[in-house]
Amino acid sequence: MNYQTENEAETVAIATRFAASLKPGDVVALSGELGAGKSLFCRAVMRALGVTDAALPSPSFAIIQEYDAHDCQVAHMDWYRLDDATEIDLLGVRDFFQPPWICLIEWPERGAKFLPDGVIQVHLRCDSDQMESRTIQIRWLE
Ligand SMILES: Nc1ncnc2c1ncn2[C@@H]1O[C@H](COP(=O)(O)OP(=O)(O)O)[C@@H](O)[C@H]1O
Ligand SMILES: [Mg+2]
Repeated sequence: MNYQTENEAETVAIATRFAASLKPGDVVALSGELGAGKSLFCRAVMRALGVTDAALPSPSFAIIQEYDAHDCQVAHMDWYRLDDATEIDLLGVRDFFQPPWICLIEWPERGAKFLPDGVIQVHLRCDSDQMESRTIQIRWLE
């Protein structure tokens, strides 16, 4: 499914609708260049899922942020700073790929081999001539 948004608010609206389709156990991989809107999209998804409080304290805070949400928990990961893919494994990311978690991963390509089957792919792309225009592609793979 492809969407085009012309500003931040339109991306938030897409993310909010997308969030309504998520269930515990879902893993979402968000790709796209720096500034494409991955974090903005994640924050909107989290709000829609009922996240209201700050991340819970955790030892892997820089890479995995854990939140309580409504009827689920949310793990928001940023794999950008990982030096080594095996580090992802050591962090125990698989624990977050099952209920009660919904897992959102930015820079998933840093550890592609650790992604589970059936990961939902969201790709955000800046459109060249329009500063605030984005193309958002959402793919549900089975
Ligand atoms: N249509 C749009 N959709 C999403 N973000 C947009 C849009 N137009 C402008 N922006 C801006 O682009 C930036 C995206 O930043 P961010 O979400 O941190 O990107 P990323 O996590 O992909 O590096 C924000 O400053 C946001 O306000
Ligand atoms: Mg980001």
